[in-house]
Amino acid sequence: MKNAKIVLGVSAGIAAYKAVELLRLLVKEGAEVRVVMSANAGQFVTPLTFAALSGHPVYHSVFDAQNSMEHIRVAENADLLVVAPATASTLAKMAHGLADDALSCLHLAFKGPVLVCPAMNEGMWGHPAVKDNIALLKSRGVEFVDPESGELACGVIGLGRLADTNVILDKVRGYFSQRDDLTGIRFLITAGPTHEAIDPVRYLSNPSSGKMGYAVAEQVMARGGQVVLISGPTHLKPPPGVDFKPCKRADEMNTLVQEQFENCDVLVMSAAVGDFAAEKLEKEKIKKQGDEGLILKLVATKDILLEVAKRNSGKLVVGFAAESQNLVESALEKLRKKNLDFIVANDISAPGIGFQSDSNQVTIIDREEKIEDLPLKPKREIADLLLDRILFRLKHP
Ligand SMILES: Cc1cc2nc3c(=O)[nH]c(=O)nc-3n(C[C@H](O)[C@H](O)[C@H](O)COP(=O)(O)O)c2cc1C
Repeated sequence: MKNAKIVLGVSAGIAAYKAVELLRLLVKEGAEVRVVMSANAGQFVTPLTFAALSGHPVYHSVFDAQNSMEHIRVAENADLLVVAPATASTLAKMAHGLADDALSCLHLAFKGPVLVCPAMNEGMWGHPAVKDNIALLKSRGVEFVDPESGELACGVIGLGRLADTNVILDKVRGYFSQRDDLTGIRFLITAGPTHEAIDPVRYLSNPSSGKMGYAVAEQVMARGGQVVLISGPTHLKPPPGVDFKPCKRADEMNTLVQEQFENCDVLVMSAAVGDFAAEKLEKEKIKKQGDEGLILKLVATKDILLEVAKRNSGKLVVGFAAESQNLVESALEKLRKKNLDFIVANDISAPGIGFQSDSNQVTIIDREEKIEDLPLKPKREIADLLLDRILFRLKHP
């Protein structure tokens, strides 16, 4: 974990003493760790203990005149936030966006991955409010190391004890492990929506955030592959190291894909490409005429995957299908028609998944029409599972 920058968030549970050991082991593995404590965590372990072991000041008070912007500074300089132990109260604050102490402020200011390790009494762990908060956090891509069964501080035996420190450590290692199994493989990835202009101020589009395609690009880079990322307009930062090619319209995306296709080994088409564009682009803004409506004539855009299929290149091609009905049948039809090696289908009518979300629940169908339903997972994990399958197929054509 050399060069890994980790924030260890500690909240006020009896297991706070185990965070001391976790900190010691993280530092021993070479991580640079900043500890952030909830307002109540100091009731269990003093900031001094964490400061001594981490070699850095501990951020535990929001209202410190010397360090009033500390939550922003610490958040900007970290790769991962690990909250261990996470109390029921801290989970609730994270789920609902409260920011009333150092840990909860830091959590909102932090943009990277978050790993939460809850610990609490069995009754609290089983409470529907806690379950709902966890489900909400999971739907945003937050990952969990669930508590274990065992003797709890309250004297009973049950589920709620902080996971073993080594289990947490293993999970943390996973964020920084540099697999290089995609070395030498060139990926062409499309992401985001397209914008089809109608006039200088209006366009047709869809709510795609680009998160799925960017997650695939990130994981390819993390595993040593090369990426050309062709992206429609999104609010995301291109992952470091990718060859980034922004575009707006479907025909621009098509041109870029056809140009770049020759130089890739794998094409992953995760962009939500518009199917229709206005037949005519008005030079001036279309004026509203009283109560009169407006009839727009739309024409079909080029189907990028069909164009690619015509080239019969022998390259591995992955498509995505966002469907609101007959998910599997529609995806199978697309797989066959476009001669794909894999299709990743997701049901956009289900709440909390698909467009905009950090998590997704997808079905992967391969060329042999083997259907694999994956559970709800952060998009980063889905990307990795997809890449595992792509790699297997490349090795066993
Ligand atoms: C001795 C003691 C042990 C506690 N252990 C836990 C615990 O393991 N998990 C938990 O969710 N709350 C536990 N609590 C309750 C929390 O400390 C309390 O909800 C607190 O407000 C949480 O603050 P924080 O989440 O802001 O750190 C404990 C309280 C006491 C007095």
